[in-house]
Amino acid sequence: MEASGVVVLLLLCHGAMRSAAAVPKLKMSDGREIPALGLGTYLGFDKNAVVASKDKELRDVILKAIDLGYRHFDSASIYNTEDEIGEAINMKIEEGVVKREDIFFTTKLWNTKHKREEVVAAVRDALEKSGLDYIDLYLMHWPIGLNADYSFSDVDFMETWRGLEDVHKLGLVKSIGVSNFNKEQLQRLLEEGSVRPVALQIEVHPQIIQEELINFARSENIIVVGYSPFGSLVMRYGKQFPGPKIDDPVLVEIAQKYGKTTAQVVLRWLVDRNVIPIPKTVNPKRLQENISIFDFKLEQDEIEKINRFNSNKRYTEPSFWQTHPHYPFEQVENPLSDPFRD
Ligand SMILES: NC(=O)c1ccc[n+]([C@@H]2O[C@H](COP(=O)([O-])OP(=O)(O)OC[C@H]3O[C@@H](n4cnc5c(N)ncnc54)[C@H](OP(=O)(O)O)[C@@H]3O)[C@@H](O)[C@H]2O)c1
Repeated sequence: MEASGVVVLLLLCHGAMRSAAAVPKLKMSDGREIPALGLGTYLGFDKNAVVASKDKELRDVILKAIDLGYRHFDSASIYNTEDEIGEAINMKIEEGVVKREDIFFTTKLWNTKHKREEVVAAVRDALEKSGLDYIDLYLMHWPIGLNADYSFSDVDFMETWRGLEDVHKLGLVKSIGVSNFNKEQLQRLLEEGSVRPVALQIEVHPQIIQEELINFARSENIIVVGYSPFGSLVMRYGKQFPGPKIDDPVLVEIAQKYGKTTAQVVLRWLVDRNVIPIPKTVNPKRLQENISIFDFKLEQDEIEKINRFNSNKRYTEPSFWQTHPHYPFEQVENPLSDPFRD
């Protein structure tokens, strides 16, 4: 090959390498590693049902995400996305783009499967749907057990945790953890469980900064994964909520300093607080935008400026479960009606 050809080839390789971002990894307490950014795959709730992917839209998003450098995918039995995520992962493995061990696949046990003996069947179902032979991180979605008809069950979350310990022992899942647990519930899990949870997935964004729970988790060497990272920045359920918007002047000023968008600043704010954001997008431009956050870092005073938006506002607040003995959040005066039952 002529010298000019070599230069062109080198430039092309360089371009290809630059387009796939390298996401750093964090070490979990069981020695395994988790990518510091994941892709959320909850597609929303409409007409009393979880929105399903149409015409393999989600599969195609995951294919694109893998090309862009995403390696960590967040799913749950209730999202109905395990199948298309697994399909895309297997396609990229077959293409030789990634190996299974490069991918970190999280999924979650739904509340109606909380009896110890139901957990193995739920994991086998997730494996069958995804076409994968193990799950990287398996989470108890809520500490709340429900019967099949969504009435409250009396299954204690420690019984459910024994089921997660079983699937861990069987090697069907590599690591186990919980989601939507409060500090007291986490403490009880640490005291009474045989296997320590490696991760806690909770809502974290500028309006709910979760200082105390994050500090507690860190003191116990538990990784925190932050869901709904954009909070009030994005439109939700068709209406605007109070709280900082995408053009908030405090966020815009920080974004301009680094040549980033305000969405990127908020994701970086989570990363700089050692929280793993799992933003959801099905838009190719935003997929690229959300992963391009590892070439800058916020100053401490910028982190504090964003912390000041805190108002302990949750967007995931299933107050229709608030009379359940293991409801993890504060009670509200006018609880919502249960969309799963009504
Ligand atoms: N454990 C739990 O109980 C729990 C609860 C809620 C969520 N989660 C997990 O966390 C993930 C993320 O949470 P989420 O989906 O509630 O909220 P989110 O990721 O904060 O927000 C998603 C919304 O932001 C938009 N968006 C994405 N990137 C953007 C950007 N750069 N600029 C402007 N808008 C952008 C998306 O629209 P487009 O798709 O059109 O880009 C979508 O409407 C979920 O998908 C799920 O995996 C877990």
